Amino acid sequence: MNSSMPSSDKALVVESLTKTYRNGTDTLKVLDNLDFTLEQGTTTVIMGKSGCGKSTFLHVVGGLDKPDSGIITASGVRVDVLKGDKLTVYRREHIGFIFQMHFLLEDFTALENLIVTAMIGGANAAEARRKSLQLLESVGLSQKTENYPGQLSGGERQRVAIARALINDPVLILADEPTGNLDEENSRIIEELLFSVVKKYNKSMLLVTHDANIARFADKSLVLTKGTFKE
Ligand SMILES: Nc1ncnc2c1ncn2[C@@H]1O[C@H](COP(=O)(O)OP(=O)(O)OP(=O)(O)O)[C@@H](O)[C@H]1O
Ligand SMILES: [Mg+2]
Repeated sequence: MNSSMPSSDKALVVESLTKTYRNGTDTLKVLDNLDFTLEQGTTTVIMGKSGCGKSTFLHVVGGLDKPDSGIITASGVRVDVLKGDKLTVYRREHIGFIFQMHFLLEDFTALENLIVTAMIGGANAAEARRKSLQLLESVGLSQKTENYPGQLSGGERQRVAIARALINDPVLILADEPTGNLDEENSRIIEELLFSVVKKYNKSMLLVTHDANIARFADKSLVLTKGTFKE
């Protein structure tokens, strides 16, 4: 586990989070005094209209963007105040991102994509290979480990992206419409897989989706409107 992070029963606590975008003289308050708590080992689905701020929320929580104000605590550690190397380490060790686009390295096989990520996370070559093969098996890709992303289907690429998000044993998975580019049947399969591996590895997850049917897999489902969450 992440030795740098003290344990806490809350995977994430967000207090009075505000985020404004400024374009010239225009200001857009996307997150407005938002409060949120995610218990360790639980999953929450976030829904809401296009442009309501779902991605912004994930980016701020994941340390990809800065809030105007507010407190973000992940497993007991204040992350809104992290900068530089400490922020990089938080993103790398604590968070597993899954985006709509898979962002796999095209010149690397499925297995190599995972091995590279594991080695960046500090694993030696043998350990990285072992973990990568194990996770590829967990997402049903044992037969495709030597395929390049261009030789995988959209659903298979997202399976690799799910495995990659888990490889450095993060506490929190942040998934932003991970099935947005897939057809309905594949979306369902990948979303079910995502929930099952998150449960298997006892992770916490925030998942943004436009698919109301997905909410039933999650412990909790929230709608983001006017900058805050509604049940
Ligand atoms: N860097 C930026 N500069 C200015 N405005 C931005 C920036 N990023 C996002 N926005 C605006 O903030 C609002 C929230 O964007 P965000 O991407 O969080 O929405 P979303 O809920 O994820 O939408 P979607 O469901 O379409 O992905 C939008 O109105 C968007 O135009
Ligand atoms: Mg978005």
